[in-house]
Order: sequence, then structure tokens, then C-alpha cells
Amino acid sequence: MTEVISLMEIDDDGNAGGDRSAKPINKGKSVAVPSDGKATPWVEKYRPQSLADVAAHRDIVDTIDRLTGENRLPHLLLYGPPGTGKTSTILAVARKLYGAQYQNMILELNASDDRGIDVVRQQIQDFASTQSFSFGAKASVKLILLDEADAMTKDAQFALRRVIEKYTKNTRFALICNHVNKIIPALQSRCTRFRFAPLDPIHVNQRLKHGQGSFHVTLFWILKFCWKYQYQYRLDVSESGLAALVRLSNGDMRKALNILQSTHMASKKITEEEVYLCTGNPLPKDIEQISYWLLNESFTESFKQISNMKGRKGLALIDIVREVTMFVFKIKMPSDVRVHLINDLADIEYRLSFACNDKLQLGSLIASFTKARASLVAAAE
Ligand SMILES: Nc1ncnc2c1ncn2[C@@H]1O[C@H](COP(=O)(O)OP(=O)(O)OP(=O)(O)O)[C@@H](O)[C@H]1O
Ligand SMILES: [Mg+2]
Repeated sequence: MTEVISLMEIDDDGNAGGDRSAKPINKGKSVAVPSDGKATPWVEKYRPQSLADVAAHRDIVDTIDRLTGENRLPHLLLYGPPGTGKTSTILAVARKLYGAQYQNMILELNASDDRGIDVVRQQIQDFASTQSFSFGAKASVKLILLDEADAMTKDAQFALRRVIEKYTKNTRFALICNHVNKIIPALQSRCTRFRFAPLDPIHVNQRLKHGQGSFHVTLFWILKFCWKYQYQYRLDVSESGLAALVRLSNGDMRKALNILQSTHMASKKITEEEVYLCTGNPLPKDIEQISYWLLNESFTESFKQISNMKGRKGLALIDIVREVTMFVFKIKMPSDVRVHLINDLADIEYRLSFACNDKLQLGSLIASFTKARASLVAAAE
């Protein structure tokens, strides 16, 4: 029997990433409050507003929190895969440093702005070289936030070296990127580096089951947050549904929230099946069935059955290959057979990423397994 975890969805105040100390709904008032929660993407609605809200990366967040509290913030370089909380962390730092007035004290440039050398020479220099005052702010230094800094041109990065040093007295720079190797070494050495690793799925499950202690992943935080505000909508997530969310998100919290929201829009009950249906990923039981065909049926039969299932369920061959690979890792077989099979699967995945012919690649998948089966028989004899 699946255990059902009840979530309460907060009401949508139409304020993207808005004030999380959100006003509780006064049920007696006849104010029209949009309550379907569908207008605002949940990734923005549930963006952590303070450092304490940022899930996982406790060591990093605590260090940054301490440095911010003591007003000793160094230049920062935050890097790591998407959806791990880099931008949210730095925005929370800005809020902590400057309070509600933080927009006046930071210059935020991201990939949607032009960030060539001219911007470094004009916009950044102008902002860094002027003294700003913000009433109520705890810090006097200003913050220049360069999000997606790996997209900055090399020239701009070179020009930034001197600017960072020149204005250290009243300005701090925070560089955020996915690929740290695209940041020139000279800039890296001027900053304190923090790596935001993908969020750990084990922590999600643990936290959701036990629901106590410091939480590591936002799914738990959402639960807590939703319980706290107790609004009208109920959202049922079964344990297996939650496990599927965690599995498919691969440590990307943004992806987890997006899948959760779209599954919620598609169905009121969030089960494993609904989650997989919503993302279009093959269900574990489909993968087991496909693997069974690959390991036991003739070439023609496997081809027919897999093609049928692909068509019926709208599965993508590349997803099947990826999941079957995981299955091959799990089952028992001599390691030399496994090595060759994985190698073949990797080649198929590579070819599929270049949009090769699906039918041919499906044939190649079955052929790889046929070869592996022959090796298994030979090994047994
Ligand atoms: N550690 C986290 N704790 C809580 N929520 C998170 C965390 N990481 C990501 N999220 C959720 O995912 C959304 C996106 O996070 P954020 O913008 O901070 O990611 P990012 O690391 O900057 O990703 P990118 O590299 O793609 O810019 C947030 O709005 C928040 O809802
Ligand atoms: Mg970001």
C-alpha cells in the first residue's frame, strides 16, 4: 500500500519569488485571490528567500552566512550544475546584506545582458566607482553579481581583473557559472570558490521520511512551507511518486519542482506512473519488459515488441537506451560481457544524440544484446 504524503499548496499571490512571509489568507474577506497556484512557476514561487531556506550545501551556505554576518564577504565564485541553488544563494546574501532595499545596492548582470568588454568598461566601472548609500543596509560594500559568467567574453573577463582589484574597497563581485573552466584562471584566483554539487537524492528521501533535523533538499522544505501556510489546495504525493520525482530530477531542484508542478496540473494525485507519464520517460516496469525482450526474445520479436511499445507509449529511443544501461549495471553478468555491452550502448546513445535513424539504432540495440547473449552462452560453456 502506498503511503500518501499530503502537501498543502500555498496560495498564489501573483508575486514571483515574492515575500515568503506572505500574508496568510483572511478567509473572512471577499478578496479575489487566485488560488490555483498555476500562474507562477513553482521554481520562482518557492525560491529560497534567505540562506536558511537554501537546501543542501550546508557547509557552503554556513560559511557564506558567517562571512556575510561578519561583514567580511570576499569576492565569490559559485559554480556547479543547473538548479542547485547558486543564484538563490547569492540573492539571499544580497537580501541579508541590504534588506528590502537590496535592488539599489547590487548590479545584476546575467546572460540576457550584453557582457562584452564595453559593459565592463562602462556599466561595471560606473557602478563600482560610485559610493552608494542605502538606509537600513548592514553593509556599505556594494555587490556586483555576474550570473552565468561563463558566457562572458574572454576580453571582458581580462578587463575585469583590474576592475576587481581597483574597487575592492567598496565593491564585492560574485561570479556564478556552470562551467568553471570557462572562467580565466586570473579571475578564479581573485575569488573564493564554492562548488554547488547536484543535490543528493538520499537526503531527499531521508528528510521526507523522517522530516526532522536540518533539511537538505527543497522537496522537504516545500512540504514544510506548505504545511506552515495551510492553504486550500491539497496535493497528494505517494511515496513512489516522490521517489520518481527525485530519481528523474538527478539532483536538479529546478527540474524536480517543474516536474512536480506539471504533474500536479495533469493530475491531482502524484504517483510514480503520473510522474513518468508527464515527463514522457519510460516507466521502470516498461524498462524491465524491454530488457526481458532484449535478453530472451529473437531479434525479430524484440524489434516488433519494442517498436510497438515505443509507438503506443510515445517513448524516445534515447531514453530507453539510457534506462536500459542502468538496468545492465544492476543485473548479474560476467564483467567482460558487461563491459562490451555498455560500450555498445554508449555508442548508440552517442549516435542518437546526433539524430540518427531510430529504426537502425533500435536494430543496433538489439544486435548488441544478441552479441552479449552469445558471449554469455560461450562463457557458460
Ligand atoms: N539548494 C536549493 N534549495 C532550495 N531550492 C533550490 C535549491 N536549488 C535550487 N532550488 C530551486 O530551484 C530554482 C532554481 O535555483 P537557482 O536559480 O538558484 O539555480 P542555479 O544553481 O542558479 O541554476 P543555474 O545554473 O541554471 O542558473 C529555485 O528557484 C529554487 O526553487
Ligand atoms: Mg542561476
